[in-house]
Amino acid sequence: MNVDGGFILAEEVFAAVIGGSGFYDLLKETRVIEIDTPFGLVTCHVGSYYDIPIAFIPRHGETHSIPPHRINFRANMWAIYSMGAKWIISTNAVGAVDPNLRLGSIVLVNDFLDLWSSPITYFDGDPSFSVIVNGKELRGVVHVDMTEPYCRKIRNYVKKAADHLDLPLDVVPEGIYANTKGPRFETPAEIRALRMLGADVVGMTSAREATLSRELGLCYASLSIVTNKAAGMQEKVTVKEVFELFDSVIPDVKKVILTAIENLKKNDEKPCQLYY
Ligand code: HPA
Repeated sequence: MNVDGGFILAEEVFAAVIGGSGFYDLLKETRVIEIDTPFGLVTCHVGSYYDIPIAFIPRHGETHSIPPHRINFRANMWAIYSMGAKWIISTNAVGAVDPNLRLGSIVLVNDFLDLWSSPITYFDGDPSFSVIVNGKELRGVVHVDMTEPYCRKIRNYVKKAADHLDLPLDVVPEGIYANTKGPRFETPAEIRALRMLGADVVGMTSAREATLSRELGLCYASLSIVTNKAAGMQEKVTVKEVFELFDSVIPDVKKVILTAIENLKKNDEKPCQLYY
């Protein structure tokens, strides 16, 4: 590890994957490292796939002990930024708000609703804090454009990988993610309201990560795995069913993610650099 500007730069990685404990064996021969960020320490698994260096960050901690409202999103995304990764593929469990979505589907969400959470940003107005994004120094008050919150390139590569691998996965190419605060599941009235607002799926993490990724100029996409029908659309929502369904698709989701990353690298794809 070397030290740059006071923060430890762990290494240069091509892409980062964020997910749950089922992804620990995504990469062979990983090393577990701790990355020091201005927002706290992040545990990260670094390995490779066909010589492509990839980092994996367990969003909820090593033992799934961090609830959604306690996740240190800023530290996690900063750790990815500091490792030099330009592509981020995140996986997360979601409830279906759209009644037509099937359990086990992977929704490549293209937009989100996050009107009710507290703000999340690197730019709190502290003039001494700055971030280099696409060669430009950003500091102070920054308002990022979120016209396209999820990376179109990654979504296309993921869709193509799923089609090409011919796996029994139902990949839905777009959808709107409603980010609730958690840790409780929603009420039926909240789900009805979210449906009226246009949400297709509901979860507790993706919009937060997408927002911070954009502030850091990183391409981010989310594979939202439908683990249950949202509250009021089935008898009740249980954590057990969420985990069981999530775990059942993980082996195929891993193949899709790694193939997408491999092809991004093979085609020397350039990050979008859309908004600065
Ligand atoms: N709501 C919020 N988050 C979730 C759900 C849900 O129904 N299922 C899995 N994660």
